Amino acid sequence: MAGELFPRIPYTLDRFFDRSCWTIKGSTFRNYLIDFAKVDADDLLPGFLKRLSSKNPAVVIDLMASNGALRTLHRDVLRGGPLKALSVDYQFKGREDERRLDLSHGIECLEGDLNHIATWRKIEQWLSSQKAHLIMERGYAGLDHIPTYGKYFRSKLGRLWRMLADDGMLLLQTPPATILKERGVPLDSWLRSLEDRKIYYRFLSGYDSMDAGRKYGLLMLSKTPRHTGFSDMAGRL
Ligand SMILES: C[S@@+](CC[C@H](N)C(=O)[O-])C[C@H]1O[C@@H](n2cnc3c(N)ncnc32)[C@H](O)[C@@H]1O
Repeated sequence: MAGELFPRIPYTLDRFFDRSCWTIKGSTFRNYLIDFAKVDADDLLPGFLKRLSSKNPAVVIDLMASNGALRTLHRDVLRGGPLKALSVDYQFKGREDERRLDLSHGIECLEGDLNHIATWRKIEQWLSSQKAHLIMERGYAGLDHIPTYGKYFRSKLGRLWRMLADDGMLLLQTPPATILKERGVPLDSWLRSLEDRKIYYRFLSGYDSMDAGRKYGLLMLSKTPRHTGFSDMAGRL
């Protein structure tokens, strides 16, 4: 049954197994865009990435990943421009010399568990007084390792919102809407409250992913308030 793929109680880390168990890992930013383009109904991403490359530095966070996507974002999107970036993963998946090279390009990996409040505090400490222009997460089966209840999502979305710059963007893979609703996550009312506040978002309730067709949802949220573009959402949720 689909619900069993997104356990109510998250799977816990098996330290000996973890490094190799993921079928999708070390992806490039281009790989991420294949997914995130699916939720980008208004084709905002090209313009957003152009603006990102003019930041000094661009501040970017990638949750549930090591440095692969950040490394290629730096090379292909920012063309080697100034970057302050943090990936958050159970363990850094790479060699120590790669880690040192990444650091010299402004890319760090925080090893921690996103189920632990200490990890979120470390992310906030890393940001210090800065805000992130882009926060992304394409966890795929990593989503089996975080809870699927509303309280967790509400608290983490609140943190992510506070970490985001005024012109920042959130790109998050989620369990599909069917699972979220089954677990009592008040998705419809959350999305309605974004609309009421004129916060731009797009939500894709489920798509057949490259993870053997397993269904995931996608949320794109831009902190820049927009005053149009919400009326057509009702039919898509
Ligand atoms: C399927 S891989 C996806 C990696 C990357 N985002 C990509 O698309 O290539 C899932 C990743 O999530 C990480 N992960 C899973 N649960 C986590 C947790 N609770 N805290 C931190 N990282 C976690 C795993 O270590 C793994 O690197």
